[in-house]
Amino acid sequence: MTTIDKTASVPAPRDGATFDGPLLDVRDLHVEFRTREGVAKAVNGVSYSVKAGETLAVLGESGSGKSVTAQAIMGILDTPPGFVTKGEIVFRGQDMLKMSDEEHRKVRGSKIAMIFQDALSSLNPVLSVGYQLGEMFRVHQGLSKKEAKVKAIELMDRVKIPAAAARVNDYPHQFSGGMRQRIMIAMALALEPDLIIADEPTTALDVTVQAQVMDLLAELQREYNMGLILITHDLGVVADVADKIAVMYAGRIVEQAPVHELYKRPAHPYTKGLLESIPRLDQKGQELYAIKGLPPNLLKIPSGCAFNPRCPKADDVCRTDIPVLVPVTEQDGTDLPGRGSACHFWKETIHG
Ligand SMILES: Nc1ncnc2c1ncn2[C@@H]1O[C@H](COP(=O)(O)OP(=O)(O)OP(=O)(O)O)[C@@H](O)[C@H]1O
Ligand SMILES: [Mg+2]
Repeated sequence: MTTIDKTASVPAPRDGATFDGPLLDVRDLHVEFRTREGVAKAVNGVSYSVKAGETLAVLGESGSGKSVTAQAIMGILDTPPGFVTKGEIVFRGQDMLKMSDEEHRKVRGSKIAMIFQDALSSLNPVLSVGYQLGEMFRVHQGLSKKEAKVKAIELMDRVKIPAAAARVNDYPHQFSGGMRQRIMIAMALALEPDLIIADEPTTALDVTVQAQVMDLLAELQREYNMGLILITHDLGVVADVADKIAVMYAGRIVEQAPVHELYKRPAHPYTKGLLESIPRLDQKGQELYAIKGLPPNLLKIPSGCAFNPRCPKADDVCRTDIPVLVPVTEQDGTDLPGRGSACHFWKETIHG
């Protein structure tokens, strides 16, 4: 077991695995937005879990409920109009939805950190990055301004910002997009959280920088043995860093699997469509497949399987019965651990 060295100025890697069981266990979560136009059912029974040292990628098109789920976990849902109507969000064995505001604030302030897509709007433009990083230590650990600045520089080093000491007094706009995102990662790491939720952390960056930032995040996650939830609409981005994937559609998880298995053998037509729409170098010149149609209107989710109007496999049963997430097995019934599909025709999809 790694011990925590509280005297070290850089957060020491810890052994988060000392907690037995999942760090975070989201169970049957439902979130709706009560708007003037009607009730938008944004999250409709999502369950997922993440352990220490594990990376869960949450994948899905725009509007599928990825961010709203994260907002519910962080307790930053826009209420009203957004309400959690059902479910549990269990963090280290405790349901956060049942915590007092004070307890909840404590957990999300120091145990769970979130990284957003847009660093520029998350950072304060009129304060230096060193000040903003240092604030974490001044406010939460009562360090002096000078001590906090030393910590800020160390964190900037940690996320590989060149010449950190010389740049600590620079303002957010003086950094490139990739460097700003590193600063966001540093902010998230500052209090040594158990879990980081990164919501499209690299979407605003160009492809090479995307890979660098993603690699850094993965490296730090391993080193600190944190849980990581990586929200993305880009399957390509998570292939190398995630352990498992949950694919969302219209506020439900339609498929879940260990990452490489999902790529090899998808068990839901939606996942299959997503995979076929990734550009591949070895298929240059071929026309890229796109899933036909648009994501559903959440005020009026289609009956049966929400994906049925866009699904090449859809049959009558898909228009009437909502498929539940069931375990996916080999043809002979052998268990495929960690795999599930919410498709009436999962067998044909994976084995067909
Ligand atoms: N503040 C809000 N008011 C009303 N409806 C909202 C609000 N925030 C989210 N929603 C609804 O919840 C749905 C899911 O939103 P969410 O932000 O979770 O999508 P997402 O999967 O993160 O998509 P993206 O990839 O675009 O970020 C939206 O389509 C919208 O209908
Ligand atoms: Mg989002």
